[in-house]
Amino acid sequence: MKKIVILTGAGISAESGLGTFRDADGLWAQHRIEDVATPEGFVRNPDLVHRFYNARRVQAAQAQPNAAHHALARLQAEWPGPVVIVTQNVDSLHEAGGARDVIHMHGTLSGALCWACGHRWTAPDAMRSGEPCPACRAPTGRPDVVWFGEMPYHMSEISDHLATADLFAAIGTSGQVYPAAAFVFEAAAAGAHTVELNLDASDVASDFDEVRQGPATRLVPDWVAQLLARRSDAQAGP
Ligand code: APR
Repeated sequence: MKKIVILTGAGISAESGLGTFRDADGLWAQHRIEDVATPEGFVRNPDLVHRFYNARRVQAAQAQPNAAHHALARLQAEWPGPVVIVTQNVDSLHEAGGARDVIHMHGTLSGALCWACGHRWTAPDAMRSGEPCPACRAPTGRPDVVWFGEMPYHMSEISDHLATADLFAAIGTSGQVYPAAAFVFEAAAAGAHTVELNLDASDVASDFDEVRQGPATRLVPDWVAQLLARRSDAQAGP
């Protein structure tokens, strides 16, 4: 059965009202990465970093999944082979849209992490400086998100999936942040057909076999419908 691996980025949640990072009005036009998305920034000014993520947590909690999130959940439910969703997004809109076993390579806004002992717990709506760890009691709680300079989560599991993919799709990601931007090469090396679904051409668009441009809420349901219409091919095996 053909295996599909999907990488998503901020563009898939844009039509749910969550800002992207690198578009003209994106988060990185309003905040300095080094202040709010690096370990050094957190050490320098934890209040500022918590304010940034607290605001994003509230915003994400109010957002609703859109037609693209629902379409990927439908693909997982109806495709006869494995469908693995790897997301760079820290929102939970894939899960809210019905997706299962989503791999959050950049962590989640809903999680808190103890920098001292590694314990994880559900983040309160508003985290604050010196947030105490429920396990070791150290005042070292932080958002469980991956900052610049840190290693993304689940990399070995993701590499295993890419190495066995028959079809790889990147949706709503600018291809500017590694290692995710290089997943297309890993999938292609494994012999997968590669497709990019994005509003405009990403930095790595020319490395895909197929590129489709437009809003995710249109592109993704159309792509899923086409795949499911050809579902009998999947049973033939790679
Ligand atoms: N439909 C499809 N694509 C869209 C839409 C939409 N409605 N709106 C925007 N896009 C596209 C943009 O054209 C852009 O190429 O989504 C992409 C978003 O790119 P980024 O803002 O760079 O977001 P992303 O690729 O997810 O960023 C990767 O960078 O800052 C870090 O940790 C952060 O996970 C994030 C990582």
